[in-house]
Amino acid sequence: MIWAIVPAAGRGSRYGGEIPKQYLDIAGVPLIAYSLRAVLAHPSVQGAMVVLSEDDASWPGWTQIDGKPVRTCIGGAERADSVLAGLSALPDDVRPDDFVLVHDAARPHLRASDLERLLDLGRGDPVGAILATPVRDTLKRAGGDGGIDATEPRERLWRALTPQLFRRLQLTRALEAARDAGIAVTDESMAMERQGHRPLLVEGSDDNLKVTTPADLPLAEFLLRFTRE
Ligand code: CTP
Ligand code: MG
Repeated sequence: MIWAIVPAAGRGSRYGGEIPKQYLDIAGVPLIAYSLRAVLAHPSVQGAMVVLSEDDASWPGWTQIDGKPVRTCIGGAERADSVLAGLSALPDDVRPDDFVLVHDAARPHLRASDLERLLDLGRGDPVGAILATPVRDTLKRAGGDGGIDATEPRERLWRALTPQLFRRLQLTRALEAARDAGIAVTDESMAMERQGHRPLLVEGSDDNLKVTTPADLPLAEFLLRFTRE
């Protein structure tokens, strides 16, 4: 059984504005609805645990989407705290070695074919897998003075996306270990890697964008309106 954990407890400080970015309206529907529907669309995904901030005033209160259960719990100060809260709030029938999918609430444009590939390949891996895309730009290392110190080789560098697929107990242990060591992990894979695991990289699409700043919103709107899959 696979459940999705959708962390949505962030404040969207880089985006700014009145309401957290995951609730911005796209064609009459909050952004988070697209992220949820995209993960729930796969037949293997049984339900979603949405992690909300304590003072969330925008969550529409859904208990089902497309016939699948949607539950909520309260997250924490960092993304990793929110994912840990989601892991612990999963229904009891999600077993310790069942896979869970973690998908950002702010990533509305996940393609069904990418999710399918992630689940196909990730479930065949002992540890799990993440969607990622190869770095395509030339990378510069900045000096402290605003000048360029060096051009970094981009071979074998990938950008981590979500969803990320790991086993419930292993991921819980890895995130707890990072937290206890005082290390801020920016994705689930980083916590797993610290434990010596080597998750599989599964190539995803560049248009699986995370809405981070206001410039990302029109792009997300365009993609959601005009891409068919
Ligand atoms: N998130 C969360 N709990 C936190 C921080 C982030 O659940 N304490 C969620 C966000 O709601 C988002 C996802 O993690 O869906 C990715 O985080 P990010 O894009 O960084 O969102 P924010 O943290 O809200 O934005 P910012 O970093 O600009 O404040
Ligand atoms: Mg953040």
